[in-house]
Amino acid sequence: MIKNKKLLILPGDGIGKEVIEPVLDIIDWMAKYKSISFDISERLVGGEAYDAEGDSISDKTLDEAINSDAVLFGAVGGPKWDNVEREKRPEAALLKLRKELDLFANLRPAIVFDALVNASSLKKELILGLDILILRELTSGVYFGKPRGIESINENEKKAVDTQSYTTSEVQRIARVAFDLAKKRSNKVTSVEKANVMETGMFWRKIVSEIHESEYNDVNLTHMYADNCAMQLIREPKQFDLIVTDNLFGDILSDCAAMLTGSLGMLPSASISNIDSTGKRLGMYEPVHGSAPDIAGQNKANPLAMIMSFAMMLKYSFDMDDESKLIEKSVQKVLANGLRTLDISQKGMQIVSTDEMGKAIIEQLNVLMGN
Ligand code: IPM
Ligand code: MG
Repeated sequence: MIKNKKLLILPGDGIGKEVIEPVLDIIDWMAKYKSISFDISERLVGGEAYDAEGDSISDKTLDEAINSDAVLFGAVGGPKWDNVEREKRPEAALLKLRKELDLFANLRPAIVFDALVNASSLKKELILGLDILILRELTSGVYFGKPRGIESINENEKKAVDTQSYTTSEVQRIARVAFDLAKKRSNKVTSVEKANVMETGMFWRKIVSEIHESEYNDVNLTHMYADNCAMQLIREPKQFDLIVTDNLFGDILSDCAAMLTGSLGMLPSASISNIDSTGKRLGMYEPVHGSAPDIAGQNKANPLAMIMSFAMMLKYSFDMDDESKLIEKSVQKVLANGLRTLDISQKGMQIVSTDEMGKAIIEQLNVLMGN
């Protein structure tokens, strides 16, 4: 067996638990046929952690996450916890993990698989072959800016405040990730903000331009306002290759880009930190879809976003590019063979459960390996 990498698994709530199962099977498969093993621990997160441990993420779990080599995260939340105070809500666990692990770079690829081109609500010619990457800043902006809260102005009037803020170094580091990633893709970056109305937007544009000029002037850079970007993503998505944007715009635009591919059930993500002085880079990998309480526990969920998040983990945390590609290829093959979970079902195709989709991926891995 090669190296023992510490992997923390946080399945979370709803379909999170179900979509992690096939990944565990792939991990077993890798141990058996690839001699790659992980040192795995599993803990509660989200609503279930709140019920059992009094908070959506315990200090111990947070500590384990910081000390692991990578975190695999399912999904959190559900109507059961709608009335829990904000600091203890399931979503707060996610924000804490992002902040404490300093996972400032969130990669959300939106790729249209040939076999799924008809699952999109857009015309086929607009999205065939689409492969874009949304790079979202994940640890600053309005999600974390201070002050925030609700204050009283007088007896009858209150005021709610959120603060959008960015520092020079926060914009610089995400800009550098964008340009570095672009060099491995089409050498093209679209930086998105609202420089026409927001101070942070003007600031973002200026810093991105400076980094571009001083360090990456061989990369093609354009700037775009966020509202225009939302419209352009629907009008002509293939004009984009890599979009870099702030936390809130990234949240919105990545959902938008996700739907170009037909289903949120197909979208993986990686959230990574910079490499620290010991050479370690922290990473958390999660599907973009949520906990989907409406279908939870029914063995109906699409595990492909989770499986492809695992593939991203192999690539970005462990430099296992070959294994990562092997998994992506299996996904492509299984889809080409006509297997579909409910969310991507099409006429004439075989609808399979979460388990069955997982098994089909393993079978395909065996085929590709000649086992
Ligand atoms: C996402 C989600 C989260 C976010 C929620 C669940 C807090 O929408 O990862 O896109 O807003 O960042
Ligand atoms: Mg979102």
